[in-house]
Amino acid sequence: MSDLVVAANRGPYSLEEADNGELTVGPAGGGLAPSLASALRARGEKAVWVASAMSPLERRAAERGGVETGDSELGLRLVPLPEETYRAAYDVVSNATLWFLFHGLFDSARRPLFDRRWWEAWEQFRRYNAAFSTEVAEAANEKAVVLVNDYHLPLLGGMLARARPDLRTVHFTHTPFAEPVELALLPREVSRQLMEGMSGFGACGFHTARWEGAFCRSSMATLGKVATTFSCGLGADVARLHEVAASPECDEALTALDEVVGERAVIVRSDRVELSKNLLRGFHAFSALLEERPGLRGRVCFVARAYASRESLSDYLAYRAEAEHLVEVLNERWTPLCGGDPPILFQVDDDFPSTVAAFRRYDVLLVNPVRDGMNLVAKEGPALNERHGVLVLSEQAGAYEEMSEAAIGIHPFDVAGTAAGLATALEMGAEERRRRSSALSELAVACPPAEWLESLLERARPAGSS
Ligand code: F6P
Repeated sequence: MSDLVVAANRGPYSLEEADNGELTVGPAGGGLAPSLASALRARGEKAVWVASAMSPLERRAAERGGVETGDSELGLRLVPLPEETYRAAYDVVSNATLWFLFHGLFDSARRPLFDRRWWEAWEQFRRYNAAFSTEVAEAANEKAVVLVNDYHLPLLGGMLARARPDLRTVHFTHTPFAEPVELALLPREVSRQLMEGMSGFGACGFHTARWEGAFCRSSMATLGKVATTFSCGLGADVARLHEVAASPECDEALTALDEVVGERAVIVRSDRVELSKNLLRGFHAFSALLEERPGLRGRVCFVARAYASRESLSDYLAYRAEAEHLVEVLNERWTPLCGGDPPILFQVDDDFPSTVAAFRRYDVLLVNPVRDGMNLVAKEGPALNERHGVLVLSEQAGAYEEMSEAAIGIHPFDVAGTAAGLATALEMGAEERRRRSSALSELAVACPPAEWLESLLERARPAGSS
């Protein structure tokens, strides 16, 4: 039992099984979990993280009674769910429906499509939220604070308000939120349950005023009322980044990168292989840059780092295949015109020290999501860069609200405009680069995870008490 409970689909630990069947617990990879976990540990007060048992190994561990993390500051409770419930809630509703809705990814001539299979998945999504509610209620002391994360768990607000009205709850959405016209893509009953569930939290938080405003407008349109809301943008986790930057693995990766890129200017991007990250238009924009600026051929390369994501969904597999194919086609076209070296290096792996090395080394960082709640790459890059690199940033990223004065803004669908933005960045004078990069590195570290976490926890209230 604990006075502070965090709930999120993905936990802060990764589990492995040794040959002798023993479980080992290590830190989880990227995303929200590592930053939030280190901020929780830094508080020096025991917290418990309630997460899905995502893999068969985690499911077995949850059924056997849980996992001992060996971490006195941060415990873990895995929610044991039947695989079909988990897959329906995570794949069909959370990722293929709500994620698409919040990032404006639907091609509405074809999708969304609410057939019988989808409605069954919605029932499973309700069961998934209910299982979290049970687990949180068991983990939380009287009047404990509960921080719930993201679109996987919107129904938890209403469920906890009924089961444990003593708890002080706060929900934080790390994605954008849908405007009423977008929310109307969901069947009315679904949007009603979604907004009702969220209005059961003591407060609902967002990275920016824009997503907060969208939530308020959607809540008014759906329920005629709005929960207590706030916005608070998360900054880069500099302490963790600097630790990786100082590691021998990162230095080795930087040396390797230097060898491959040679004297060429370097454009970097780093994302999950994710439709909202807009990789394809990024590659098209780089090609347009080489087209428009023949003088840059052979003098610039594009290091596109990505790590695989959500490969249980066909959309993500197809997107990755399309990106790999596009890079092949563009490299075939441009390599002979660029002195024989492929100008695009598309690296799909899960190697954080290499990503940090690329952040240290870039001349230009391209962050061009279709839409994004915040986008921490736009902050992690400038926090680490050692070359007065320029940030080319989508106006649709939450980070743009904070960094527009020092970044070069681009419209994510405007490939020609993105190419022009890259050209401006590459051709920028030294003084201007210095001015912008020092502003960026300051903006990037405002509100680091520990401070961000405190302001979230301060907002936690019993449901309906505002
Ligand atoms: O940006 C929203 C988010 O849920 C993050 O919190 C998380 O790091 C990321 O998406 C990754 O999602 P998943 O857990 O599905 O890989």
